[in-house]
Amino acid sequence: MTDAATSTPTSDPVVRVELDGVVAVVTIDRPRALNALSAEVLGELERIFANLSTDAPGTRGVLLVGAGGRAFVAGADIRAMSSLGPAEAAELARLGHRAAAAIEALPVPVIACVDGFALGGGLEIALACDVIYATDASQFGQPEVHLGLVPGFGGTVRLPRAVGLARAKELIYTGRRIGIDEAVDSGLVVRRFPDRDALLDGARKTVEQIAANSASAVGIAKRVLVDAAGRPTDAASALEIGGFEEAFRTEDMHEGVAAFLEKREPRFT
Ligand code: CAA
Repeated sequence: MTDAATSTPTSDPVVRVELDGVVAVVTIDRPRALNALSAEVLGELERIFANLSTDAPGTRGVLLVGAGGRAFVAGADIRAMSSLGPAEAAELARLGHRAAAAIEALPVPVIACVDGFALGGGLEIALACDVIYATDASQFGQPEVHLGLVPGFGGTVRLPRAVGLARAKELIYTGRRIGIDEAVDSGLVVRRFPDRDALLDGARKTVEQIAANSASAVGIAKRVLVDAAGRPTDAASALEIGGFEEAFRTEDMHEGVAAFLEKREPRFT
């Protein structure tokens, strides 16, 4: 198996984690390749998100960012993919899906902070996050068809959920890039900011707002939202009922309801 389909860490970390109170900032750090997703980056993303709750239990929200100021992520690493055979490509796609699944499985919200290009696999990783915030300078797209490729890290699954099936088809079939206006209008981007500092500040404020709420309630809500996405109404409703029942087993629920009735602020654990 070539290096492109395996995850072999090198000495310089390609993904960095910084903890700042309740906020964890995860930075994809390959700016010379516009943060393209090599197998190493994907392996690191999978590992970091799978372990974050244990490694940093005080974290209440994650900001996923790209280093260098030009791109969030410009896609899967095209150079590394050029030497893959079909079976190795499938292995790489599975790795990309595992990285996306690890982001979705984290019980705290993850905000994709896009400043620049979010293309191909980069947009797919952003779509695995709970919300996308972006600067005015950002551009989005699934340009795989320009390369004779198709989305491989979840774009055909999550993009339709974000923007609707017809718009996702149009974006994937044309491979065209969209700017911030269309990204916001289509619902892909939840909030826009004039520049990177404002973006990171806004995302931190969102995490602080989330951190004032019950961690168990937010975690259950995320799990139900992620698991219910795309399921038939009956199955999705059953998941919600299960989550509602689970909330009633938490101390936070009893504290939150008691605090409301006693007209005081809740003290969540
Ligand atoms: N993979 C590997 N390297 C990449 C890359 C990628 N996806 N995107 C950019 N780079 C590299 C370039 O090769 C270049 O490196 P060198 O300086 O060593 O030549 C460097 O980053 C800077 O890029 P450009 O010189 O091309 O910068 P630009 O400003 O002229 O263009 C861009 C920027 C429009 C984003 C252009 O780089 C581009 O089109 N990149 C590819 C985007 C793309 O097709 N993404 C989809 C990849 S396939 C995929 O993601 C499959 C999947 O779903 C899993």
